[in-house]
Amino acid sequence: MEQSTVFMTLAVFESFAPTQQRDLASQFPSIGFHLVYTDKQKQTAESLSQSYPYLQTGFCVADGPIQSALASQSTAFVLEEGFSLSFACTLPAQTEPYLHLYFHTFAEAMDFVLANVHIQTDLPDRIQAYGALLASGKLVAFPTETVYGLGADATNEQAVKHIFEAKQRPFFDPLIVHIADLSQLEGLVVNIDDQARTLMQTFWPGPLTLVLQKDPRVPDIVTAGSQTVAVRMPDNALALSLIRASGKPIAAPSANRFGYTSPTTAEHVREQLTGRIEAILDGGACQVGIESTVLSLCTKEPTILRPGKIGMEELKPLLPTVTYSSKVGPTDTVLSSPGLLESHYAPTTAFYLVEDVNVYKDREDVGILLFEKTHTHFKGPVAYISESEDAKQAASRLYWAIRHLDQQHLSFMVGSLLPETGIGVAINNRLRKASTKHGSPVQY
Ligand code: TXA
Ligand code: MG
Repeated sequence: MEQSTVFMTLAVFESFAPTQQRDLASQFPSIGFHLVYTDKQKQTAESLSQSYPYLQTGFCVADGPIQSALASQSTAFVLEEGFSLSFACTLPAQTEPYLHLYFHTFAEAMDFVLANVHIQTDLPDRIQAYGALLASGKLVAFPTETVYGLGADATNEQAVKHIFEAKQRPFFDPLIVHIADLSQLEGLVVNIDDQARTLMQTFWPGPLTLVLQKDPRVPDIVTAGSQTVAVRMPDNALALSLIRASGKPIAAPSANRFGYTSPTTAEHVREQLTGRIEAILDGGACQVGIESTVLSLCTKEPTILRPGKIGMEELKPLLPTVTYSSKVGPTDTVLSSPGLLESHYAPTTAFYLVEDVNVYKDREDVGILLFEKTHTHFKGPVAYISESEDAKQAASRLYWAIRHLDQQHLSFMVGSLLPETGIGVAINNRLRKASTKHGSPVQY
């Protein structure tokens, strides 16, 4: 088996339980583990590598990015807390010579390493090949900073039709068109005013989708017959490089079966769409973790149709009259705009929003969704969506945590809402949509 090299920071190694530290070599026989440490950590690193003979003292880094110290190690991976995995790779849509990918768990990061021994040279080729697939009308799933998308050439009606078939998505739900360059707006939208330009300059690439007036050349299937079209430029080097390689604007909904939780890893996409699509570009876990903010500029006042990471606070300074659509927030009940269905992003196991999850601490058959570590002992499985109290981290782990509980054959799962501020607005919107609308958890 071919060997890979992983340089991990001392902080990563120290976050492992003692048994994990001991068993790392037998668990991953084809990976050579090295420690990266600072001057101050040198002694600790040396004594650790004496305790664990498989662990080599890689090298010491001064302040500054570890990657630059790795210039001579161009075939290695660097693993930092969080879990951030980086390696030397140059893609068209990328400025620095290293690519950073994120993973929810250490195991996910190591699976990526094992599956991608020659990633530095393979990835650029893969992106070219997948770009060609898209250009020929095939479906390719790809990572974005929000969730994985299921892409097709937006100018090819047949290709877009296949998206709806693969997802079992109703045709009345319009798609977002993804672009890599502003020049791709030509042929997609008309009448771009100063307000729209300013928003693009400020937030693109990034998790903001703009609903604008459609160019008649956009096939009706993309917009569900509407005279408006949703467009965004994702902030992800793999996505941007793939779109460029295809040479097309790419229509892409989230890469899940219709109505189910959006995918934030390539594995999530595989679970639901294998056999229905041509390829999946694995780019690790999505950093934002919830879908983009959808902002319509075609309504009387600019309107947030779907809340996301870019919230009121960021938009107000540029758009003083921006409002939430009546479908966003606690009064979210009626189906009033295409695709903004009430029940969406839903797991298979019943999920209830409750005031106090502690009520369920003695139930082995109830999954608990928690935002932060607690001292309460729960008998059932617990998924922490944030190790800290950081709401941004919470968003990035939200769907992963819901899926994790959903796979455990539980009677039901429970969680509570966050304060309605910042990204909490978007997280609560998704929690409400994921929750079971009828009935309440049985108490006994
Ligand atoms: O973060 C995201 O937006 C992800 C990634 C893949 O980019 N995409 C995504 O797509 O979430 P999807 O199809 O799952 O959600 C698109 C949302 C739907 O709620 C749809 O109704 C709305 O955007 N939408 C699309 N076109 C629209 C239009 N012309 N007018 C109003 N809403 C529109
Ligand atoms: Mg979706």
